[in-house]
Amino acid sequence: MPTPESLTTARHADFELEVVAGVWPDDIEGEMVFSAPAISGGLPYGIFDFGAISRLSLTPGTRGAGADRFAWRTRTIETPSKRIHDAMPETFAPSPVGYTSPFGAPNASNTAPLPWGNRLFTTWDAGRPVELHPDTLEFVAEVGHVDSWGGPSMFGDTVLPFLFSSAHPVADPERDGLWTTKLEPVMEPTFGMRPSVVWWDRSGTEVRWWPLEDISFAGSTHTVSQTRNWVILCDSGNFKADPDEMFGGERSVRIDESSPVWLIRKDDLFAAPTGTPVTPICCTVSPPNGHFYARYDDSDGISVVWEGMDLMDLAFYLRPDDLDVHGNPVDPASVGLYNMAMAPETLTEILFDPERGTVSERGSFREDWTMNLQLSAMDWSLEGMSSPTLHHVSYQGCRPGRISQRAARLYEDRIDLAQVAEETPGYLATFERGSMELRSRWEYADTSELITSPTFAPRAGGVPGGHDGYVVQPVLSDSGFRVEVFDAADVGAGPVAVLRGTAKECVPLLLHSAWTPTLEGLAPAERLRFSDELTDEKLAPLDDEQRRVVAKVADELDG
Ligand SMILES: [Fe+2]
Repeated sequence: MPTPESLTTARHADFELEVVAGVWPDDIEGEMVFSAPAISGGLPYGIFDFGAISRLSLTPGTRGAGADRFAWRTRTIETPSKRIHDAMPETFAPSPVGYTSPFGAPNASNTAPLPWGNRLFTTWDAGRPVELHPDTLEFVAEVGHVDSWGGPSMFGDTVLPFLFSSAHPVADPERDGLWTTKLEPVMEPTFGMRPSVVWWDRSGTEVRWWPLEDISFAGSTHTVSQTRNWVILCDSGNFKADPDEMFGGERSVRIDESSPVWLIRKDDLFAAPTGTPVTPICCTVSPPNGHFYARYDDSDGISVVWEGMDLMDLAFYLRPDDLDVHGNPVDPASVGLYNMAMAPETLTEILFDPERGTVSERGSFREDWTMNLQLSAMDWSLEGMSSPTLHHVSYQGCRPGRISQRAARLYEDRIDLAQVAEETPGYLATFERGSMELRSRWEYADTSELITSPTFAPRAGGVPGGHDGYVVQPVLSDSGFRVEVFDAADVGAGPVAVLRGTAKECVPLLLHSAWTPTLEGLAPAERLRFSDELTDEKLAPLDDEQRRVVAKVADELDG
């Protein structure tokens, strides 16, 4: 198996974990939350499926777990979209990019958890952030009335508005708001998507938005990053919609070799009324990337770690009839998952000087083993973001069984087949911020397993930056899901403690994770209600039964 079968065959469920190796540290605290698509089998490409949230408590005996046991709790995110889908699944048609329905485009909210102070949100690229109850993990509200977003991105005025946005909004620690994006199609200056910066101050139900003047591109804005004074957007470059594929044809669109970057001064945004175009400073980075993280302190420039996705085309997924790069039929358990990286990936720290318009590389790392840069862990405290010390990255290793011949053919002039011929180990690796020098790494030699999104848990009372605390590394395995905890200052020493389910439970595909202090109760706030957006115009195209379903969901949620 190129990756564990349980990625698609296991089901989300509650269970308890116990320490099976090492000693659990007594100065680790809080919780780790995960986002995941449900992988119901209802869609050709599983990463568009409805979202689930999972929560691992890092303190034994809490959240209902027995003494010396650790609680894993998981819930489907019951958005209005999910509730309407479950009431009338036959009206939701699968496509390569999720469901379409007469109600509009569902918000799957399946990609990343976003703990923000005393509140918990989840996100995805094709919908608004969703707030969850931190105790029960139940759906609470979507963020921002669609009218305040300037209306939906496309597909008309529907009950479920389509908002093409970002899976990684970023919370502004000093202005107490959230930066995210909205994309919408434009004809000028070329046909493509125009990005807007979106701001929500979390005090109410309205967002503000500012389109980027004269910008049109063909990708997505997966990540939003920031410094004290700047918002940073980038064309993720590794996910491009292919109209031919959406209409049943073969995929022919390829990812780019570089991506545009847009720098926008925060003060310029706040000085302009919502809806007013603003002019960004434009730069370029290469290779394209999915995730990037700026140092918050910008007193000597905007310093950003770019997690490159060299030849990682995230729009490419495995079909039942696919052969892998060696000509073997793909593992049925991998069907519907993404085509994995076709080259080692580059990690780069770049310094932008927006005043002078200069771009300079501070450090870069890429070796044969840096395959499938999955995700990273860092200290998200204000002090940690201002003066980051270490950046921890999980590499899943090379998995030729999850590279299709179709993808290799599409990229035949860019792929080195010798470089992706063999399975290679995964690594948890630590890099110095700034220089990107490799400080330490730990090898996962068992290629039947797959490490997934790590997180940094700060040591209670520790020094901010990313070195004084723990890296928590989940391991997906058909022999049972594990959670391995490392000293962040020395991951190469191996895990200090390992958790495993008491019945060796397996966990399906997980996407992003995040660390949060233990949150209790729902913070009081004014929130958007599903019914606040329902209008006669939105309901008019629906038949009587569909309208009854919408009314029932509105009643449930308002109650
Ligand atoms: Fe992401």
